[in-house]
Amino acid sequence: CGKKEEAAAPAAAPAPEAAAAAEPLKIGFMYVSPVGDGGWTFQHEKARQALQAEFAGKIETSLVESVPEGPDAERVLRDMVGQGNKLVFATSFGYMEPVQKVAAEAKDVKFEHATGYKTADNVRTYDARTYEGAYLAGIIAGGMSKSGQIGVVASVPIPEVLRNINSYVLGAQSVNPKITARVVWVNEWFSPPKESEAATTLINGGADVLYQNTNSPAVLKTAQERGVRAFGKDSDMSAYAPKAHLASAEINWLPYYRKITQDTLAGTWSTGQDWWGVKEGAMDLVSIADDVPQELKDKVAAAKAGLKDGSFHIWKGPLKDNTGKQLLAEGANGDHAFLSGINFYVAGIDGTVPG
Ligand code: GUN
Repeated sequence: CGKKEEAAAPAAAPAPEAAAAAEPLKIGFMYVSPVGDGGWTFQHEKARQALQAEFAGKIETSLVESVPEGPDAERVLRDMVGQGNKLVFATSFGYMEPVQKVAAEAKDVKFEHATGYKTADNVRTYDARTYEGAYLAGIIAGGMSKSGQIGVVASVPIPEVLRNINSYVLGAQSVNPKITARVVWVNEWFSPPKESEAATTLINGGADVLYQNTNSPAVLKTAQERGVRAFGKDSDMSAYAPKAHLASAEINWLPYYRKITQDTLAGTWSTGQDWWGVKEGAMDLVSIADDVPQELKDKVAAAKAGLKDGSFHIWKGPLKDNTGKQLLAEGANGDHAFLSGINFYVAGIDGTVPG
């Protein structure tokens, strides 16, 4: 009888490989603003929580919020590696160099960097096609602006942000070719007081429909206080200022996070670069206000359908910058290289791109 028990014992204890496989995959998320920013980071956090619920038992996620872009980011990434994370999502542009540095030291960890362009064997980049949401919002802005002048509160002057500004204005001009636009830069991703101040400057200058590329709903709230209209970006911001809110260009990070998690669990993760948009279910214009005319809603729906099936191109010639220089000739479409290098303002935008 005792012998029988001994014989059964090895079968009951899991083999070392099985034990390893049963360990949940540790995934770290690093955020530049607080999870309660109501925009960019909140939306990543929403996806993290959904991911955790979906892969319960298979993954163990954690987060560090309000991590400045720079040396702090490097320290946090090293901590994440030290704590056993094997997959790390670093969710702001300025984490690009810290990710490169730490990834070179931690070859057994996969790094996912949002909005950057530098890869490595264990670094992949990803982004949402936020310019598609900006274009859809622009369609509504073009139809709703009474002054004919719209405005954008911009964060940091990188191609991604310039894509969004230009795309918003192109969307507006598709409805009203006479639309002009102004841009105020705050040089930060998250600073509600500065975002609000920039919105005030734009409103004082005559802009009556605002967009923003910053992380909080401050611009939208300021618009409401001043009796003009604005959009939510990255997450649905309608609840923050329902009177001003026209629509929100919302990102859904979950499909991408799901795919990367599945790939990592299956051992099929590999480096690459992905931009997901309307087509992949990663970008949408949501909570369109009731007073937006049906005609504009129909135009949004048509553009969305065209983005989905690939028949509609936002970046198409003839396209000129605001100095009259031709960017795309008649019949040409902007490709990935063109989009990655955008450093201009299209015709109709006042001013010059910060150097
Ligand atoms: N919004 C769009 N892109 C970014 C980014 O890279 N970082 C932050 N914080 N917000 C963004």
